[in-house]
Amino acid sequence: MAQTINTEVTRTDARRKVTGTASYAADMIPAGMLHGAMACSAIAVGSVTSIDTSAAEAEPGVVAVYTHETLPDYKTVKGFYAGGPGSSSFWPMEGTEIRYAGQPLAYVVAESAAAARRGADLVSVEYSESGAAIHMDPEESFVVGAGEDSEGMILTKGDLQAGLDGASQTVDMTFTTPFQHHNPMEMFAATAEWRGDRLTVWMPSQSVRTLRAGIAGAYGLPETSVRVISPFVGGAFGSKAGITPYAMLTIAASKAVGAPVRLIVTRPQMYTVATFRPETQQRFRLGADAEGRLTAFEHVETAQTPRFDDVVNPGTHITRAMYACPNIRTEQRLSRSDTNTGGFMRAPNEMQTFFGLESAMDALALKVGMDPVEFRRANDTMTHPTADVPFSSRSLMESYDAVAQGFGWSERGREIGSMTDGDWLVGYGCATATYPTNILASNARVRMQATGSAYVELAAHDVGTGTYTIMAQVAAARLGLPVEAVDVVMGEGDLPVAPISGGSTTAASAGSAVHDGCMKIARQVAEVVSSMAEGPLAGVDPSRVTLDDGTLRGPDGQSQSLAEALQMVPEGEVEVVGTFRHPALTPELIHATFAGGYGTAGPVTPEMAMFAFGAEMAEVRIHRYTHEIRVPRLHGAFAAGTWLNRKTSHSQLMGGMVWGMGSALHEVTETDTPRARFLNANIAEYLIPVNADVREVRVEMLEERDDYVNPLGVKGIGELGIVGTAAAIGNAIHHATGKRLTALPFRISDMVSA
Ligand code: MOS
Repeated sequence: MAQTINTEVTRTDARRKVTGTASYAADMIPAGMLHGAMACSAIAVGSVTSIDTSAAEAEPGVVAVYTHETLPDYKTVKGFYAGGPGSSSFWPMEGTEIRYAGQPLAYVVAESAAAARRGADLVSVEYSESGAAIHMDPEESFVVGAGEDSEGMILTKGDLQAGLDGASQTVDMTFTTPFQHHNPMEMFAATAEWRGDRLTVWMPSQSVRTLRAGIAGAYGLPETSVRVISPFVGGAFGSKAGITPYAMLTIAASKAVGAPVRLIVTRPQMYTVATFRPETQQRFRLGADAEGRLTAFEHVETAQTPRFDDVVNPGTHITRAMYACPNIRTEQRLSRSDTNTGGFMRAPNEMQTFFGLESAMDALALKVGMDPVEFRRANDTMTHPTADVPFSSRSLMESYDAVAQGFGWSERGREIGSMTDGDWLVGYGCATATYPTNILASNARVRMQATGSAYVELAAHDVGTGTYTIMAQVAAARLGLPVEAVDVVMGEGDLPVAPISGGSTTAASAGSAVHDGCMKIARQVAEVVSSMAEGPLAGVDPSRVTLDDGTLRGPDGQSQSLAEALQMVPEGEVEVVGTFRHPALTPELIHATFAGGYGTAGPVTPEMAMFAFGAEMAEVRIHRYTHEIRVPRLHGAFAAGTWLNRKTSHSQLMGGMVWGMGSALHEVTETDTPRARFLNANIAEYLIPVNADVREVRVEMLEERDDYVNPLGVKGIGELGIVGTAAAIGNAIHHATGKRLTALPFRISDMVSA
């Protein structure tokens, strides 16, 4: 059984998913269910002067139409982070005010989804419209909390100007990244059913406990009266982490009509009723000496935020951890515009910041005349540059060396434009990937039966990443059972506390709680069998019995399989609650997680800095005449502590790299700027890489041991793969053509004009 971890285990839910028997939240249909639909604002900023719902109400099948004036007992959860991640402080349908395009203005309940949609289309709204700006203006930006509690929003070490003055080469470069929107396969949906004062909500969620706590708090109900159920999630990546208006509107509408109501948000509405990746600007001023060592490092990140919320995903906290430098300055800024509240999207804001950082590093390497990989090596460090604590483990250069070998980096032409193949200009580029190892408290209930079955229950989530499988693997490995003998139940708010599935934390934190539960089972069983008159472990000191892949071992070499020992326990089973409480978790952070919030420790603790690392290399080909950009090869090597499952880990890293390619070449939310609206608000017009774009993607997974991060030695990898891909592709484009592209996504038009 020792082979259960770090092997390729096929997802335990794969068959259910591909045969359609896995029930997603919107597949649950309570008896008597009605259907909801929203009518949303056609203007961005202003107010509702009148709403006429008579045509909608006359539509056959329509049961009720609610507006800000007529929806009774509608509750909201205010404040970004207040009730958990991603809650807006401005909520629709509380009054006449309109603050973003696509803001819900009316909620229709009908006997069929089609009737509800028709009803929503028939709601007639008159507006008073004010001017609106959808794009941020970095000239009009600010630092959150500066002067009081700036939480590292501005950080200075050494003397930046002296470092720039003393450099033999410098770069001063500004990069931009666009709005990007979530388009998960599973659409946003919520179904609410009230029975008296008891409420059940089926909704795809990355944080069922956040949702339960927020809803119960809003309605003044005990948490035991609110069930939140989210067994499967068909793509999340930050889009299903918060408490959203569409959910609270559905809950209120269901209460008002006295029947269960299900809302499936339309594809266009998904752009304005949930979170997205805000646009950013990244400015880097770097200096290096003649040997290629950094003498100055400045990063100023400005990110878009709505008028009413300060959404900070501090990318500068990550970039400043990358390279040794005596003089560092980072500054985190926000700039307001008229949108709904943005937030998380896979690696916020590492994706954006590393596009800038790694492009600037490439430019500086060229200026000092060094190979880009060797330039990173010259600035590698085992000590966090600003926190002055060691990295718990850091395999950045091992990653570069591994990927370089497989990729054939040594064949890279030294000169720009030196590699061609017929009419194709060929370029090689590289970039660093990293992701912080965030730490959150978790519990997990684990039960093992003498019959050879085990049960694992916790309020964690499988957002498509393979959590069901890896939780079963951890228990199977420790308890000495086959993976199929472990039943994992997750995705319900009533289960033992597990953290939000965000920030790449679930495998590490929830997995460690499962691990701890198995150890506790072993201890309890050891206490029983050691006190018995007979048996292999009779009379041994139970505190000295260890569990080694399903085998209990005494101090003098005595041993007995856990399953066999369990048969000597009168109950024939043992049930415990395993816990994960990293020493870096303060009581306040533990409390925050248990209250449904986001009590994250790390990635920097008073003792250590915890990050996963990787290196990515891209080959691009640009057609000499059409300027078409192709990426025939994308290679990455990554080190992230223990690999729990080599198949699902590989998929996460590969998926991240493919999404990174999308960020580089395809993805952008276009805007109707004069009207402050998202334009291509539809999965059909939002470009992502397809099979024809994705050619060879190779992922190498390096071995790394880290005893500090958690008992399993696991670092999160859900987001690692996307970080660095855009820069690797951009650097390869520069190598092929000499054109330095500074705005995502890269387009043929950039190749013509740059
Ligand atoms: Mo992830 S963007 O932390 O859901």
